[in-house]
Amino acid sequence: MTIPFSFELLATDGKARRGVIHTARGDVRTPAFMPVGTVGTVKAMYLDQVRDSGADIILGNTYHLMLRPGAERVARLGGLHEFIRWPHPILTDSGGFQVMSLAALRKMSEDGVTFRSHIDGKRYEMSPERSIEIQGLLGSDIQMQLDECVALPAGDDEIRKAMELSLRWAERCKAAFGDQPERAMFGIVQGGDNEDLRSESAKALAGMDLKGYAVGGLAVGEPQEVMLAMLDATCPLLPAGKPRYLMGVGTPQDILRSVARGIDMFDCVMPTRSGRHGLAFTRRGRVNLKNARHAEDHRPLDEESTCPAARDYSRAYLHHLIRSGEMLGAMLLSWNNIHYYQQLMQGIRDAIAAGNFAEFAARTEADWKRGDI
Ligand code: GUN
Repeated sequence: MTIPFSFELLATDGKARRGVIHTARGDVRTPAFMPVGTVGTVKAMYLDQVRDSGADIILGNTYHLMLRPGAERVARLGGLHEFIRWPHPILTDSGGFQVMSLAALRKMSEDGVTFRSHIDGKRYEMSPERSIEIQGLLGSDIQMQLDECVALPAGDDEIRKAMELSLRWAERCKAAFGDQPERAMFGIVQGGDNEDLRSESAKALAGMDLKGYAVGGLAVGEPQEVMLAMLDATCPLLPAGKPRYLMGVGTPQDILRSVARGIDMFDCVMPTRSGRHGLAFTRRGRVNLKNARHAEDHRPLDEESTCPAARDYSRAYLHHLIRSGEMLGAMLLSWNNIHYYQQLMQGIRDAIAAGNFAEFAARTEADWKRGDI
């Protein structure tokens, strides 16, 4: 018997929520951080390491996978989980956001988006229905509606048009998704930096009775206070019994402050991308291993960490690997960073369950500020 998709709220502490998403491929403990596996790989990591770090779910991208190797091909190869050897839950983004940031000659219309591939210039069309079809071919457990996200700053007219188009596309994606009890399709709140447009979008989506809700269009150039104000305007309007996902966010501090406002799920390239560039996240803040001060430092990143990358290698060696452009440098720092993010999420979940999330958040932020160990 397959397990239907559902969300269980286990505890609340202020607005922070501890919960679990049940899926046919396993449970996702929330608040959750989803490592980004854009093209079917969490860059520079074995999926065993990703799993062992504590990740219950990873993210894949419709846009990249439809171009290469192609959604129909992935389906013939047994679906994305089988193809990449990750039997646990996968969430896929719908493609619109990546088209806008990566593709050439993109054009948005009522019916969808047309664009040329950033790989070979080939022309593609993607409607809301085709996005859901592709996510179904991939076998995604949590599928996202096609939406339009505007880069900020932008005028209210432009933000309203994109928000309203996204609402119409949410209806079309819901119809295309149909009745699939073991999977979910999430709507995406848009509305830029305008609280009224955000609340209009959230209320309309809440009325569609979807299985989960994302907040999109944030961390696109606005200050953190604006992002948090948008969460304050949005989260209270979303149904308490459904998961809430803040897309593309963020720094450890963004995550703590967003959990405090009622967000349950996150994804971001930050831990892996910054790892490839020599930046390590630790309990005592960020460490830039490119810096010459690490050249003869025998100490590991964090001798108390349970991650071998953090505990067993000297900063001097990590510095040498990064300075030399060696692949192992990217691998070790991505591992350290994904492990750090997952440890942070576990700390957050434990603190909410214990009813001391505010103290945990204050202590964690103070430790980052205390600086390097
Ligand atoms: N990833 C980060 N922000 C967004 C957004 O607004 N929409 C989608 N689809 N993906 C995102």
